[in-house]
Amino acid sequence: MLEDLIKEFKEIFKYDGEVETFFSPGRVNLIGEHTDYNGGFVFPCALDFGTYAVVKKREDKVFRMYSKNFKNLGTIEFNLDNLVYNKKDNWANYPKGVVKTFLDKAYKIDSGFDVLFYGNIPNGAGLSSSASIEVLTAVILKDLFKLDIDMVEMVKMCQVAENKFIGVNSGIMDQFAVGMGKKDHAILLDCNTLKFEYVPVKLKNMSIVIANTNKKRGLADSKYNERRSSCEEAVKVLNDNGVNIKYLGELTVAEFDKVKHFITDEEQLKRATHAVSENERAKVAVEFLKKDDIAEFGRLMNQSHISLRDDYEVTGIELDSLVEAAWEEEGTVGSRMTGAGFGGCTVSIVENDHVENFIKNVGKKYKEKTKDKTQTIIASTASPFKFPKTILQGLDVNTSNINDIEALNILSSF
Ligand code: GLA
Repeated sequence: MLEDLIKEFKEIFKYDGEVETFFSPGRVNLIGEHTDYNGGFVFPCALDFGTYAVVKKREDKVFRMYSKNFKNLGTIEFNLDNLVYNKKDNWANYPKGVVKTFLDKAYKIDSGFDVLFYGNIPNGAGLSSSASIEVLTAVILKDLFKLDIDMVEMVKMCQVAENKFIGVNSGIMDQFAVGMGKKDHAILLDCNTLKFEYVPVKLKNMSIVIANTNKKRGLADSKYNERRSSCEEAVKVLNDNGVNIKYLGELTVAEFDKVKHFITDEEQLKRATHAVSENERAKVAVEFLKKDDIAEFGRLMNQSHISLRDDYEVTGIELDSLVEAAWEEEGTVGSRMTGAGFGGCTVSIVENDHVENFIKNVGKKYKEKTKDKTQTIIASTASPFKFPKTILQGLDVNTSNINDIEALNILSSF
């Protein structure tokens, strides 16, 4: 595959010399949803599919960017001296925003580059295709311009690009998971302090199965920002009443129960209830995982979905249908929506012996419920936890892994 990408790059940009290749993963969050911007814990892992790039540095200040995923948009061109958000540049605003953020921070970037991107993460599916291309761009900049910058700093800059350039007030989880992911581990990240711990994910006879509603997030970005504001309002109300916190993530459920009566707005109360309970669930769930108690981990995943459905209200018919169908399946240990919600994907832990039926039955039920919508399920293999198999951490692509990566994703449509 990499050879094909290089060939295509050379055709498109009419270039015949040396090029550089990069890869950056996607991510799935196992538990701790909508907690990152609330100063709480998240527990994501990087995926073995993501975004590839073939790159050649230029001598002038021009950037030419082409994505195999958006062929109809052709090559998008812009200049180092004019890095502004432009709706018609579509997806290219993500890498452009990262370049701009690096410049704003006075990193020395004095020329442009030509790049071909190809992502095998479904776009808008809540698996962080945007964080993946952002971190990928940061890694390209570091490499091409020999910048002295570490991954955590790059992760933070990518979040700034997403917040300020793209205008989505997202937390740090996605960029962190993409940049810092490690094979066979998930990351327990305290989003307040950025302290983190790699936790081995030893699922033995189980797999992580990701199911895509195929419903794009659409208006999600504004709803996302709304959720965030509600939580911030709740913090304000609590502080006005003598509770001294910066984030909801600082409160345990017991502490919150004592002060929640101050929040009189029903919607704010529900949002805050989710943020506090989900944060605690994430911490407890990881403790169970460390003790190899996957059953309890799964039960807390289910609770997480219920809280996201009833208190945070970010699920909707598609995600709920998929999760309910998953809960009904024999061999499902836990299932929940993952990412921002309002569409996108669910994540489930399923016993290997039941993965095949899971894919078939959940797909069938989903189609029955949502009528004309089809759905795709992307799963890790049913063999002992191969997932996440290869985390390349934005380093030059190790080509020997590429065929495995392609083989690993079971893609079924119903
Ligand atoms: C999106 C955001 C993250 C996080 C999740 C919800 O993926 O980009 O920062 O808030 O939603 O957990």
